[in-house]
Amino acid sequence: MSDPYELRVGVPSVEAFRRLRTDAGLSDKDPAAVALALPNTWHGVVLHHKGSPIGMGRIIGDSGTAFQIVDICVHPAHQGRGLGARIMAALTGELERRAPASAYVSLIADGPARFLYEKFGFADTSAHGSIGMFRLMHGSHGSSGSRAEP
Ligand SMILES: CC(C)(COP(=O)(O)OP(=O)(O)OC[C@H]1O[C@@H](n2cnc3c(N)ncnc32)[C@H](O)[C@@H]1OP(=O)(O)O)[C@@H](O)C(=O)NCCC(=O)NCCS
Repeated sequence: MSDPYELRVGVPSVEAFRRLRTDAGLSDKDPAAVALALPNTWHGVVLHHKGSPIGMGRIIGDSGTAFQIVDICVHPAHQGRGLGARIMAALTGELERRAPASAYVSLIADGPARFLYEKFGFADTSAHGSIGMFRLMHGSHGSSGSRAEP
């Protein structure tokens, strides 16, 4: 049988982006902010199942020294089939092709997603003497109980 999944380079529409995130249990984003953000993607992929978007991943960054992998998600009905790995392979492959060898690539691993990222060479910053830090622009921060997931 032919593969029902197709990985396309690019970003989803604002509405599809929000649906993909929330269907996977990630936080929703302000549509105006998403509309500003998506065109600034360095490299993105959208995974389709029979023509409909069911997963995605993006790389953002300065194109030279610093990149971040964000918005990795697969619809729950399609998880556990190697699709998250397919998205990560496409993103890290593009970094290997186009990013300078000295580039720093970071991400925030939420829950068991860390096991996926470890397969692609990502390591816990704390094992290297750093901690990841974050804040939200509306003023709250990690100790307020909000998740660090971007
Ligand atoms: C994280 C996510 C993208 C993984 O997608 P997926 O298609 O289910 O992952 P895959 O089937 O490609 O799994 C690849 C590897 O990741 C690891 N992995 C993925 N999900 C895992 C889980 N729940 N527990 C442990 N390991 C897991 C495994 O090592 C797995 O390899 P294996 O099948 O050889 O054991 C998906 O579960 C998801 O969208 N989750 C909700 C949103 C989210 O948390 N996104 C990440 C934000 S940081």
